[in-house]
Parts: sequence; structure tokens; C-alpha cells
Amino acid sequence: MCGIVSYIGSREARSILLEGLKQLEYRGYDSAGLAIRQGNHIELYRAVGKIVELEKKIAGKEVKGTIGIAHTRWATHGEPTEENAHPHRDQNDDVFLIHNGIIENYLSLKKWMEKDGIVFRSQTDTEVLAQLIAINFEGDLSEAVRKAMSQVEGTFGLAVIHKNVPDEIVIARRGSPLIIGVSDHGYFAASDVSAMVRHTNKVVHLKDNELATLTAGGFSISTAQAIPIERDAETVEWRAEDAELNGFPHFMLKEIFEQPETIQNAMRGRLEPGEGVPKLGGIMPVWENIKECRHLVIVACGTSYYAGCVGRYVFEKLTEIDMEVELASEFRYRKLNFPPNTFILALSQSGETADTLAAIREAKRKGASLLGIVNVVGSSISRETEAGVYNHAGPEIGVASTKIFTSQLTILTLLALLLGRHQKLSLTEGVEAIRALQLLPDQVRAVLSQDNHIRAIAEKYHKRSNWLFLGRKFNYPIAMEGALKLKEVSYIHAEGYAAGEMKHGPIALINPDMPTVAIAPMDDMYDKMISNINEIKSRKGPIIAIATQGDEKVKELSDEIIEIPPTLDYLYPILAVIPCQLLAYHCANLLKRDIDKPRNLAKSVTVE
Ligand code: G6P
Repeated sequence: MCGIVSYIGSREARSILLEGLKQLEYRGYDSAGLAIRQGNHIELYRAVGKIVELEKKIAGKEVKGTIGIAHTRWATHGEPTEENAHPHRDQNDDVFLIHNGIIENYLSLKKWMEKDGIVFRSQTDTEVLAQLIAINFEGDLSEAVRKAMSQVEGTFGLAVIHKNVPDEIVIARRGSPLIIGVSDHGYFAASDVSAMVRHTNKVVHLKDNELATLTAGGFSISTAQAIPIERDAETVEWRAEDAELNGFPHFMLKEIFEQPETIQNAMRGRLEPGEGVPKLGGIMPVWENIKECRHLVIVACGTSYYAGCVGRYVFEKLTEIDMEVELASEFRYRKLNFPPNTFILALSQSGETADTLAAIREAKRKGASLLGIVNVVGSSISRETEAGVYNHAGPEIGVASTKIFTSQLTILTLLALLLGRHQKLSLTEGVEAIRALQLLPDQVRAVLSQDNHIRAIAEKYHKRSNWLFLGRKFNYPIAMEGALKLKEVSYIHAEGYAAGEMKHGPIALINPDMPTVAIAPMDDMYDKMISNINEIKSRKGPIIAIATQGDEKVKELSDEIIEIPPTLDYLYPILAVIPCQLLAYHCANLLKRDIDKPRNLAKSVTVE
């Protein structure tokens, strides 16, 4: 969702900020803007639509300052108009502010200000914050921000400059991520590392209820109560080239093709083949409790949730643990009973998804212990969980998650295997699992090598407006994820169903116009999937089967077949999802969709 990037240093801010905004595009946005200090005044430019619209507005203008703040907005309060785009100002154009999050008490604050004659120019909650900082300003910008922090309810990551404070940017955080970047030519503040990764990989994470003052020569952090904080910069492993397309037409395709490496990275240094047991250092802080864990609840949203659904079957196969998987957004409405030693495991690429964060906070209040599998190092979920495992998959830029899904499945399998070896699995079973895991990167390469074949299938079917995806047990969540991928990037309507439920409804839809993607590898559900395929065939529904290499039976029954190499039944999802990702990608590409930034979607959903 909304993205923040700010800069103060020795270089011109304009190109640094525009480049930073482009790196944030993937988060999803509908308008953008920036404010740059130029001598004694502050220049403001805003535009609806893509960053190029903003660039057009600035083209030919003299904007030469070295201090500036910039923002991509994903509308929550008020339509995506220029007046509603950030930066927002107070009525006297003294304060310029960018903000991620939601000010919950903005209406009451606004009413109070309007009574005092303060004039508003937008429908946003953010403008209230700018006015509030202006009202509180008595010469010290950080003090004014501190006071405003005590008056607002809700969430914020913000950066602010003031006309009469020529050499400072003040930033503050409550609930929305904010990172300081330390480069050799100045200081950055951004909502994620990608906005500054071309300039630095040294970052300092701001925590909730902290604020910081950035100057061209340094930064200082303090709490909302003005207690100074010393915090050293950390080095992040992301490289500038991770945020480049490297010859691929879209990030989604690049990330699909990165999966042999990202699956490898999820296992790197974590396998002990001789012992048949993985090593997960990040879990060790809670090992004494978790090794005896009998109740685990996975919470997640979107694609991460479907990874959790696969995880449930994998844990049930490999461990003695009672499993539940909950959509994080529904978690708080459930009356979950937490027996002693219950663990909650949050799955999240960004580590910032608002519902997932709210779910773990609620679980903590109820006495559960918290684990996380997170890609973004230092993110809120990684900080608020007691232990966890990082994906080490590099930035995922495409809004539709691909490489993180298979990375999450790999790590879930490692975790289940680790606990399973303690609880019930033999050495032989452990060794067999690790051998199969080690084969995965090459097996994924083999699936990816069928890209042309999958594109040809997409060419044949991309104009069909309804698709069905079917799978059972381990691959039932893959049917849901396959349908989600197709919906997200191609806007084709698709349903993901447990194949056993087909007779209870979706079979009514089967006709020669509706393709069914049947995920039917040679696992313990094989015979049942063959029956489903037969039922579709007898109703003349076109079948695109994802089946194990050399499966002549499925080949005969299907219109199209995509082969995946043989593996253990609980590892098939990692291979079966790849054709689904490629099908979605190619359909979207043929339909000329905005693949990396699908309409209305955001990469990181930081509001509930
Ligand atoms: C958004 C993204 C999805 C992602 C979901 C959960 O909806 O578009 O790709 O799966 O959020 O995000 P998380 O960062 O928590 O995995």
C-alpha cells in the first residue's frame, strides 16, 4: 500500500525521490507526490496515476533542493485526486507531511479545528495530522510531532518538513513501518528497503512510538516521551540488482524463475542429511517448549494463507501436532481455545500485513507463544514473534506472490520435519525427506523448462472467462492458490475447489467453455482425482491436468497435460503450483494486463 521515501543529504533530492518512488510502485498506489525544499520555500508536486504523471508535472521545472519527502498513495479516505494525494499541508503551507496508516480520530480532530476556523483542502485523515503539527509548532519540529503523536489515535509512519526549519526531516512511527537508511551522501527514511537499496544497504529500524530527526550529517532517535535511543545500523542482504528486471519483461516472471534459487536459499545451511533432521537456528530460543507442542495455529492472509493450508496437511503427516489454519482477518472473531503450550505461527512475506499483526497480538494476549516465517528482515512480525525463520528470498516485487509461496512451503516442511523427528519420525523417514527436499531445485527447473508449452496452453484458453481449479489433500490449497493467481493478474474469474466438493455444486458449471485445471499427481489421492477428471470429461469440460511425469492414464483423459517430476506426496504442492503460476502469468500477458501491479491490489496490505 502507500509508500514513503525521504532524503536529506548532499545530492539533489528530485531524482533520488523519483527513483525511490518507482521502487515503491510495486506496493500498489493510485497517486503520487513530492515536496522539495528549495531555499526558503517548499515546492509541492502531486499527480493522480502513475509516477510518470508526476514526472510530467515536474519536467522542465527548476527543482534543485537536497531535502525532500515523497509518497505513493493507495486511497483509503477520499478518492484518488490530486488534492487528496500526499504530501499534505497545513492551511498556511508551513508543514508538509507524508503519511502511511490511518488516523482513526481524524473526524473529531477535524471538527474541533474547523470550529477554530482552520481551512481544509482534502478529504483525507492525513491533512488533520499536518494541521495538528502546525498548531503544535513553537520552533521545534520534533516537539510538535511528539505532541501530535499524543493527540492522534490510529496508525502512522510519517515524514514531515517545515518551512521554517531548513535542515531537518522529522519521522515518526506507530504501526506503519519506517526505516532510516544511512548512505555516504545522506540519510533516507522509507517504508521499505527497496526505495533506497541503490544507495545503501545500511538501515536502522524505527520502532513503534519512536520518532527521529534526520539532518544531512546524521540522525537521532527518541521515544514519544523524549527519551533518547541509541541504535546501530544493520546491513540488509538485499542488493540493488534484486530490484531490477534483469532482462525479464515482468517481476512476476522473474520471480517465478527465481524459485530454484529461493527454494535452495530456504534450505541453505539448514539440512543435516545424515541425521535426517533440519537445523533451524531461529527456532532454538523456544525449542524447549516447541518440541513438546501439541497445538499449532497458523495465521496468514492471501497467498501466505494458502501456504498455511498446505502446511496443515504437512504437519499432520509429519508430527503429532493438532493443527489449525486461520485467515488472520477472521482470527479475532473465532472463539479459539488455546490449550497450554499452543504456538501461533504467522506466515507473511512483508511481515507488515495489518490483519496478521493484529492476529498475533490477540493471540499473545490469550497466552499463546508466537512464531513467524517472514521474508522481510526486521519487519514488525519478525520483531513481535519470539522465534522464527526467515525466507532469505530477496525482495518480492510482483504484487502476486510466487517465490515466497514455495519458499514458505519449503520452510514449513523443514519445521514439520524438525518437530516430527522429535515426536514420531524415524531416521529413515527423516533421511528420505531430506533427500527429496534436496532434489526440489532441479525438479522446479524441469517444470520451468516447460514454459513454452504452458504459454501455448494459455494461448488456447486465455479468452475463457471462467476457470475451475481442483485438487485434493496436499493439493487442495494449490487449487485455491492457482485460482487466486489467475484472478489476481489476469482478472479472469476462477474458483479453487476441493475436488471432493465438485459434486456439491461446481459440477453444474462444467461445459465445453470452462477449463478445469486438475492437479492430479501420483499421490495417495490419485485414484480419486482420476474419478473427478472422468466426471468432467463426460460433461465435455476441457481438462488441463498437472500430473506426474509419464502418467499415460491422465494424459489420455486430458486435453492438455503439464508434467511434474515424481516426489514425496507432501512435496508435490511445491512442484504443482509452478504451472499454475505460469498459466496465470501467460494468460495475463496475452490479455495485456498490468501484471506486476494489478488493478486495486497492493503488495503489502498495511490497513485492516
Ligand atoms: C497482499 C498481496 C498478496 C499477499 C498478501 C499477504 O494481498 O497482494 O500477494 O499474499 O497480501 O501478504 P504477506 O506479506 O502477509 O504475505
